Amino acid sequence: MISNKSLYKLSIFISGISILFLTTGWTNQNSDYQQGGKEKTTDEVYKNIKVLKGMPASQLMPTMHFFEASLGFECSNCHVRGHNDSDQKPEKRKTRKMIEMMNAINKNNFEGKQIVTCFTCHRGDANPETIPAIMTEAMMKERRNEEKSDDEEIKVTNRLNTPEEIISKYQNAIGGKDAFMKLTSLKIEGIIDMGNNRTAPISIIQKAPSYYLSTTKLPFGEFERGFNGTIGWMKNPRGAQELDGGDLQDVELSADFYAPINFLKNFSALKFSDVQIVNNDTVYVVDAKYSDIRRFKFYFDVYSGLLIRQIQYDKTLLGELQNQTDYSDYRSVNGILFPFKMHISDYERNQNLKYTNISANEAVDINVFNKPAK
Ligand code: HEC
Ligand code: HEC
Repeated sequence: MISNKSLYKLSIFISGISILFLTTGWTNQNSDYQQGGKEKTTDEVYKNIKVLKGMPASQLMPTMHFFEASLGFECSNCHVRGHNDSDQKPEKRKTRKMIEMMNAINKNNFEGKQIVTCFTCHRGDANPETIPAIMTEAMMKERRNEEKSDDEEIKVTNRLNTPEEIISKYQNAIGGKDAFMKLTSLKIEGIIDMGNNRTAPISIIQKAPSYYLSTTKLPFGEFERGFNGTIGWMKNPRGAQELDGGDLQDVELSADFYAPINFLKNFSALKFSDVQIVNNDTVYVVDAKYSDIRRFKFYFDVYSGLLIRQIQYDKTLLGELQNQTDYSDYRSVNGILFPFKMHISDYERNQNLKYTNISANEAVDINVFNKPAK
């Protein structure tokens, strides 16, 4: 049977899909993080915090995911099921020592910056390698390719120079600001392919400026995620619940109807960082900050101007986690180009999303965006 926590994570993940921004969100099971407008600390919210004391409580769970991703672990590798405060498992006790060791390495060698993380040594494995690997054919090929791309400077005709120019080109490429502003609602039908012949239909309703509802039908029930302009929520077969922290940021981003037009408004610290080759396409890479805990890299095709990849980085207490969405199969809807195919991956999932139909500017009842009573 699927656990409460994985059900919640799954519902957040599979329904966290919008036209432009897919975000996974990390589980904030404890919504009691705020006190008089100030965020509570880890040790105020949780019972048995010995090392990660005095940190924002909403960051503890993302940090647990960081452990999972770094060691290839699940919660139960360190925790007794249902008793996360128990110190019974040696892996949990060892982890505290590891955090202290790692912090000391960074403090003594890297001015306290998060340079060495759990992943630096562990690389997805509980037992870090000590002996350098033997060269394989595949490694040799990879090394040759790396050397080649290091040597070649990527040539771009009519090269743009600023993030503003790149984003403006993107906005024109999808149809232009004026045409986009004529859209007022979208109804989207699609299919999520989770691999192993597991698929699920998804439907999304969006209305300007920031109403959002996605519904995914899985064999064991229906998952919804919504935003009514103020309140973000999710609903799974066990009931409805309001979202906060990173999960609220996710649904807010999904709900921003004019996101491609609001680009410069939604993001700060924009920086044109690189020209790269991604899946045979030459792209501009633009760095952007969304909030104190979240930044992005956007990859725009230098010739078509279209967004073909987005990587989202979420801060945890000990390092960042990333998730990536690749966009393709752009098709016109009311004169605006939308990506009909998306490939979505994070440290534990790899999924394809295909839209089968998008219809624009149909009437939408705004009551559907409100959080259901239960
Ligand atoms: C690599 C080991 C490791 C993994 C994997 C891990 N944790 Fe933890 N967890 C810890 C450690 C260590 C602490 C205590 C931190 C401290 O003392 O500062 C902790 C603390 C917690 C706490 C606080 C408990 C309390 O009340 O004091 C919760 C809740 C928690 N973890 C949940 C999870 C969940 C859920 C997962 C899976 C998503 C997970 N952890 C994965 C090592 C781990
Ligand atoms: C500088 C390298 C390094 C860093 C950084 C590091 N580890 Fe380790 N860790 C090791 C090595 C090496 C071992 C294996 C020790 C052994 O075999 O006795 C290990 C062992 C462990 C184990 C025991 C695994 C088992 O199955 O017995 C856990 C749990 C662990 N590390 C968690 C973490 C976590 C969580 C972090 C980040 C907070 C971290 N480590 C950071 C090097 C590192």
